[in-house]
Amino acid sequence: MESLKKLFGKTSKGEEVYAYTITNGKISAEILDFGATLRSIYVPDKNGNVADVTIGYEDFAPYETSSAYEGKTVGRYANRICGGKFEINGKEYNVEKNENNITCLHGGGEFSFNFWKVENFSDSSITLSFESEDGSFGFPGKMEARVTFTVTERNGVEIRYSAVADKDTIINFTNHSYFNLAGKGDILGHLLKINANAFTPTDEINIPTGEIKSVAATPMDFREFKVIGKEINSDYAQLVNAGGYDHNFCLIGEKGQIRAVAEAYDPESERRMTVYTDLPGIQLYTGNFLERCSGKAGRENYKNCGFCLETQYYPDTPNQKNFPQCTFKAGEEYNSVTIFEFSAD
Ligand code: BGC
Repeated sequence: MESLKKLFGKTSKGEEVYAYTITNGKISAEILDFGATLRSIYVPDKNGNVADVTIGYEDFAPYETSSAYEGKTVGRYANRICGGKFEINGKEYNVEKNENNITCLHGGGEFSFNFWKVENFSDSSITLSFESEDGSFGFPGKMEARVTFTVTERNGVEIRYSAVADKDTIINFTNHSYFNLAGKGDILGHLLKINANAFTPTDEINIPTGEIKSVAATPMDFREFKVIGKEINSDYAQLVNAGGYDHNFCLIGEKGQIRAVAEAYDPESERRMTVYTDLPGIQLYTGNFLERCSGKAGRENYKNCGFCLETQYYPDTPNQKNFPQCTFKAGEEYNSVTIFEFSAD
């Protein structure tokens, strides 16, 4: 596994997209400069057989348009903002309503569907930066953002975000990788554990109702390892409405303190992934809206072929005053870290 930069493809306008491989000699990750996209993570199983444990595409073209955000860095506000509006310091801001003209989803896509500048690239690490203008997609403040992907000695892909704006603004970054630890098939047989006693129920258009609801005695209970498919098709209204899991879990532990928050395990390959973060929430999304199409290396993408664990502030925070807030002052730095760490039993 060598560290390298290679031409991956071209945008519809003819701009060159590069793929950068970083590695610790045991696992490796591939990052695109377009959307600071984590395209692949190659991980050995217990017998040393290496598989790509993320979902995506063979060629560049779908990365330019896919509304499924495979592997993307998402900013400046991941997840949904109700009605595409919120107030800061008594002023109302109207942001891009890119979801059915009703909701702002993933900041309108600005950070995910543009080129990032590569600042640093070494064998095991890459840093990319992105500048967003004041008022871009309706958000207040000119923002400078950085993301660093590092393959750690402990076989983690560590993602560090930092951002600062020149006006008070909301900041919520995530990575939108879809994982499949088997490197094939669907993820319904994977085991999952999430260190959360509660989740944020949503309405019919996936906006939090404001309630922080105990997971006890519901299919949302992942406090002990559970097969993802076990209750996914139950008649629990939250799952029926979202077509599966597409919910924010309220993580145990202090915001700002890095801790293990979730663990996934594929019994067949015996690959295991532990997620660490310092953020308060995580979105479990089971790829409910994925349409069947060709994916990477002859694989097919389809509903439930991967799951996302999107570390985040809870959705719609600026409109939900009882949620941990992510409004940052002008000049105040946002910093956060998420690590996807891999092992095989
Ligand atoms: C959302 C899903 C959405 C997906 C792709 C996830 O973060 O929760 O509802 O379909 O992103 O945009």
